[in-house]
Amino acid sequence: MSKRYTITAALPYTNGPIHIGHLAGVYVPGDIYARYKRLTGNDVAFICGSDEHGVPITIKAKKEGVSPQEIVDRYHKIIKDSFVDFGITFDNYSRTSAKIHHDTASQFFKTLYDKNEFVEEVSEQLYDAEANQFLADRFVVGTCPKCGNEESYGDQCEKCGTSHNATDLINPKSAITGNIPTLKETKHWFLPLNKHEQFLKEWILKGHKKDWKSNVYGQCKSWLDDGLRPRAVTRDLDWGIPVPVPGGEGKVLYVWFDAPIGYISATKEWAAREGKDWEPYWKDQDTKLVHFIGKDNIVFHCIIFPAMLKAEGSYILPDNVPANEFLNLEGNKLSTSKNWAVWLPDYLKDFPNKQDVLRYALTANAPETKDNDFTWNDFQARNNNELVAIFGNFINRVVVLTNKYYNGLVPTPSDFSTIDQETLAAIKAYPSVMESALERYRFREASQELMNLARLGNKYLADEEPWKLVKIDEVRTKTIMFIALQIASALATLSEPFLPFTSTKLKGILNSDANKWEDISTKDILISANHQIGKGELLFSKIEDTEIQAQLDKLEASKKTNEAAKKVVEPQKETINFDDFTKLDIRVGTILEAEKMPKAKKLLVLKVDTGIDVRTIVSGIAESFTAEEVVGKKVTVLVNLAPRALRGVESQGMILMTETPEGKLVFVNPDDANVTNGLHIS
Ligand code: MF3
Ligand code: ZN
Repeated sequence: MSKRYTITAALPYTNGPIHIGHLAGVYVPGDIYARYKRLTGNDVAFICGSDEHGVPITIKAKKEGVSPQEIVDRYHKIIKDSFVDFGITFDNYSRTSAKIHHDTASQFFKTLYDKNEFVEEVSEQLYDAEANQFLADRFVVGTCPKCGNEESYGDQCEKCGTSHNATDLINPKSAITGNIPTLKETKHWFLPLNKHEQFLKEWILKGHKKDWKSNVYGQCKSWLDDGLRPRAVTRDLDWGIPVPVPGGEGKVLYVWFDAPIGYISATKEWAAREGKDWEPYWKDQDTKLVHFIGKDNIVFHCIIFPAMLKAEGSYILPDNVPANEFLNLEGNKLSTSKNWAVWLPDYLKDFPNKQDVLRYALTANAPETKDNDFTWNDFQARNNNELVAIFGNFINRVVVLTNKYYNGLVPTPSDFSTIDQETLAAIKAYPSVMESALERYRFREASQELMNLARLGNKYLADEEPWKLVKIDEVRTKTIMFIALQIASALATLSEPFLPFTSTKLKGILNSDANKWEDISTKDILISANHQIGKGELLFSKIEDTEIQAQLDKLEASKKTNEAAKKVVEPQKETINFDDFTKLDIRVGTILEAEKMPKAKKLLVLKVDTGIDVRTIVSGIAESFTAEEVVGKKVTVLVNLAPRALRGVESQGMILMTETPEGKLVFVNPDDANVTNGLHIS
């Protein structure tokens, strides 16, 4: 029976491109589901858009010295293009900077305000006096009160997933200046989640939500068991949607208040374009609302947004929130800031026209029930051993033989053997087997069933050996090829949600786009005798070891850059005053002699002419310089450092050194301009 589905995929933050983790966790499963629901005759609105507010975007803008709008414009385009490139079939991809969204979110806030659903409260919030700014969300880091992670953000700990108020952090620090924040009074509007606790408990715990994935249900339960507290839904920031009520001047809506409303505004925008009514997609009890998200979004989609929708009063609540766990990359957490990722635009450059390979590899190894690891070797194996060797090989044999034996005309079968009958019956069973997996949001399982159908085809051909029989039994050969073509035809239809580009290609090769999903289980014939198929064309091609090595090398390079970067960001030392500084007596000296200190890896013993005298200085630079190359060098010397003995040699001063951005140790050379990072003392 046809049903209406509103399927949403988490709005990506618009501060960088999309990587494989996003694709695996949210967009590929969402797209498989949306395609499957469309194929089975449902009315689907698959909705997404750019999440363009929030602190990370302003931080990035500040870093680059551009406006936040410039950042979101740039990445909105890149992200939107990636989704098109990878065949993600959103009915609408909108953005939260759109006017329709500002209007919708403002109106939503006003409605709750008018219904007295907020608590207005002046409270002390973290404040950075130097930056002249309140610190919330990603502007503040500190220790998570729940798990002890020292790098928790103000609104959420990425380690344990807990979402908290910035003032809950232990040892908070400003992410802007590094300062310890002070407290300052400010007024905000709070959504009293405690008021909705009872309802949420009924709905999730006592309701029918036991069929939610256990990771999702478990997180909700732990939240509800802990007890809910009011959450501020406004912020003292200047990037976002202005708070539309008296006293809201200079404040904006919390990004997690406005973003999920983005699903609604994007639906409105789509409906207006299509000449449809948006409301049934959000207000008709018969509509099934499904949110595809990553696990860090669970509380927002299962607790906070439902509380908002409930408070508003006219909306439906999600039927399911099939959140995925995280995907790691080669054993490490994906990270935008550490560039530990496979970015979709980069992938496409390196593997043009291999979108389905990535979709398949990510689905077959999706982090559905636990965090999973993406490795390039697994990717290669999925391609070479499954897509090429099973799916592609089967189709290729069928198409080549049909062309060779029958000039591409589907042959007329004769009597079906038991095997034939079993094979035809087996084909018919696939849609329901796959549906059962898809209805439970088990996309890996469904993708493996698809591959099993191709396996069945391969096995059938291998057992029946038409290439041998063709010489002795033409009649039987025709029947075999007819059956094989039925399997190929079923694959063309059933692969569409998973491998959309391949499905289109295969339909082109078979010259047939006639079957719907349900036809595979109901029709006796999927491709009829005398139908003319097209010429063969390879669906997949082998990925070579060198291509995989190139990807691994790229990651290795990221690792190196990170290690170098880590050195540069040593925190600033305690402030010294001018008097402290003037105590340093720094002179230009010349190295007259140098020799390696015996049995000490790092030390050179130098004779240095300081202009005052010639003295001995022991310097820890032997790993970067040989004795020969430093002789004759002009150097900067701290001459009044208290002498101290190093390995029995008295060192009477210190040579000043610094590091280049690449982490290379260099002299603070009086003639040189390579002094960049302040002084290091070696
Ligand atoms: N931008 C958020 C993230 O990437 C997701 C927002 S989902 C929405 O984690 F519901 F708020 F839209
Ligand atoms: Zn934590």
